[in-house]
Amino acid sequence: MNLVERELEMRRLPQLMLFQDGGPVKTAEDWKHRREEIRELLCRECFGFPPRLSYEVRGQVVNTQEDAYGGKAVRQTVELEIRSPYSHASFPFTVTLPKGEARPPLFLCLAFTPSEADGLGEEILDGGFGIASVYYQDMTADYYDSHMSGLGRFCTRNQFDSWGKLAMWAWGASRMLDWILEHTCADADRIAVIGHSRLGKTALLAGGMDERFSLTVSNDSGGGGAALFRQKTGEHICDLYGKGSRLWFAGNFFRYCGREEELPFDQHFLLALTVPRHLYIASASRDDWADPVSEFLSCAAVSEVYEALGFPGLVYPGAFPKEGDCFHEGRIGYHLRKGTHYLSRWDWQKIMEYRRMHQV
Ligand code: GCU
Repeated sequence: MNLVERELEMRRLPQLMLFQDGGPVKTAEDWKHRREEIRELLCRECFGFPPRLSYEVRGQVVNTQEDAYGGKAVRQTVELEIRSPYSHASFPFTVTLPKGEARPPLFLCLAFTPSEADGLGEEILDGGFGIASVYYQDMTADYYDSHMSGLGRFCTRNQFDSWGKLAMWAWGASRMLDWILEHTCADADRIAVIGHSRLGKTALLAGGMDERFSLTVSNDSGGGGAALFRQKTGEHICDLYGKGSRLWFAGNFFRYCGREEELPFDQHFLLALTVPRHLYIASASRDDWADPVSEFLSCAAVSEVYEALGFPGLVYPGAFPKEGDCFHEGRIGYHLRKGTHYLSRWDWQKIMEYRRMHQV
């Protein structure tokens, strides 16, 4: 047993490969059922359920720039409208596709600002990718709004298991994808979802829930994202109960404040929703609040599911990563950037490298 495996054993995680009734998960068919159990559990205990209403999605292109980035790309601004029998909401996003590419791969970027991919659009485009970018607060506000802004209007809030903001943003990303698949030439088999920090948590949820994303990327997502809660350092569930982040989760989640050991899941369950599709976890060495060690351990923990299904999961040298390490061989990509909490150019370069290596 190597040091990583020993540390995992000490954390006493709930088992991915056992059904709730204790039966073993053996086949790919079993995994489908187990994945459903996990999805249900995470909605009920952590993120909340998305609405069970019927809805329609319509997009209107409100602006087209034929020569974005000095003529390299075409950018469309889309106003996306979602209607249910009881409510409606709309938000804008941009889709920018490189010229001369018949079916470009695309990154759906959950952004902290209205600026495309938070200002790194040109580098992503030069990497050969299209970009769909949304300013997350256009989907619903990131502050107490009585759930009256944007997507929050689609279901009545309860204190237990109605969706939190992370689930709303993730659901919004899927509605963007509805439109992108129908109205653009982006390659449907090569669409990734990516986010940093709270939006890294969101990306994990969006990619986990929606199997149309062939790659899910989280950067420095920390607590409620990739990092295991059991024996985590930095941020704990009690901290997430703070004013800034309380609304991100369902009410039930906070029953586990200070009782992380009693969680019926840990964050490797969230990662497991993506199996067998590709997953990329990026960490930073001095991101103490997020806890890069616990992010890495989640990858190591979920690897067994990939392997059981016949895919290489996390391929690593059997020891904890050092600054600058990149593990790109398996269906779980990982890197540890030197530095603090941030989505850097270096992160993007490594993530694009991984996507090029694993096209589907
Ligand atoms: C806070 C929060 C984190 C979150 C981060 C962010 O630090 O505690 O959980 O990831 O904000 O989204 O910027």
